[in-house]
Amino acid sequence: MASPAIAVVGSTMTDLVTYVQRAPEAGETVVGDRFVVGYGGKGANQAVMARRLGASVAFVGCLGDDSYGDRYLAHLADEGVDVTAVHRVPCPSGVAPIWVEPDGTNRIIVVPGANDALTPSRAQQAVQQLSDVQVVVGQLEVPQAATAAGLAAARQRGAITVLNPAPYASVSAELLAQADWMVPNEVEFTELAREHQVGPADGADPRDEAQVRALAEVLGCGLVVTLGADGAAVLVGSQVHRVQAPAVRAVDTTGAGDGFVGAFVVGLAQGLDPLAAARLGCACASWSVERDGTQTSYPSAQQATELRTRLAAELET
Ligand code: RIB
Repeated sequence: MASPAIAVVGSTMTDLVTYVQRAPEAGETVVGDRFVVGYGGKGANQAVMARRLGASVAFVGCLGDDSYGDRYLAHLADEGVDVTAVHRVPCPSGVAPIWVEPDGTNRIIVVPGANDALTPSRAQQAVQQLSDVQVVVGQLEVPQAATAAGLAAARQRGAITVLNPAPYASVSAELLAQADWMVPNEVEFTELAREHQVGPADGADPRDEAQVRALAEVLGCGLVVTLGADGAAVLVGSQVHRVQAPAVRAVDTTGAGDGFVGAFVVGLAQGLDPLAAARLGCACASWSVERDGTQTSYPSAQQATELRTRLAAELET
C-alpha cells in the first residue's frame, strides 16, 4: 500500500505518569507504585502512531525553550516525524501529570505552556508549504483558531480534515466548519450532544444509533465515536456501523484514543473506507491499552506491520 502523507496540527506534552493503587482524595496523601516520564500530548501521540504505521508525517506545533523541548524535538526526529514546522518559543514546554490506577483508567491534567503559542498564520503556512498531504488532523490542546487555519489550508489543497475534539471544549463554529470528520470519545460525544441539544437532556448515548446520526447531522461532518472496550460507532452514509474491539486486559488506557485517531487517519489517507480505517484504529488502540505508557504502548513499526497483516488475514476468514 502507498505511503500516505499526514500532517498533525497539535500538541506535545511531556507525560509525568504515576502508577498508583488508588488516586488520592482531596487533602489526602497516598503512596504511588511507580513513576515514569514519557512523550505524550494528543497531537504528537497521533503523529507517532501514524508514523509507526508507515505514513510520512509532518508535525505542526510549538515547543518551549527548555530541556523538555530539546528532548521532545529530538524524539520526534528519531521517530522519523518531519519537524520543520515545529517552532521553539520562549516559555515552558507542555507537561501532563497523569495518574493511572490498576484497572488502567487514568486522570490527566494538561499544562499547555508552549502549545498555546501556535498561531493561525504559523499553522496555515506550515500546511500550505507541505510537499504532499492527504489528511490533516487536529485536536483541542492548541488554540482552536490555529487548528481551524491549518484545517482550512488543508481543505484548500484538497486534503481530508479530521478533528478529535479532545480534551472536550466547546468547538468554535469556525473550526467546526473545517472538519470533514469528527472523532470524539464517549465523554466528548455526550458533551457535544449536550451543547448542540441532541438526545435526552440527562445525557446522550453514543450507543444509540439515532443519536449518533442526529449529532452528525447537526455537526455537518462524518462521525466516528470511540467506545473504549466496545470498539467504535462509525457513521457511513445514513447507517451507523459498530466495529468491535479485540478483547484485551487493560493495564493503562493513556493515549489509546490517540492511537485510534492516528491509525484512523492513516486508513483514510490510504483510501480505506471509514469502517476499515476504524478497524485499524481499534486494533491499534487495543494493542496500546495492554501496555504501559503513552507512545511507549504503541506498536513499533515492525509490530504495526504484523498487526496489519493479522488484521487483513482476519478479514479474509
Ligand atoms: O490522550 C492522552 C494524552 O493526553 C497524554 O499523552 C497527555 O499528554 C494528554 O495530552
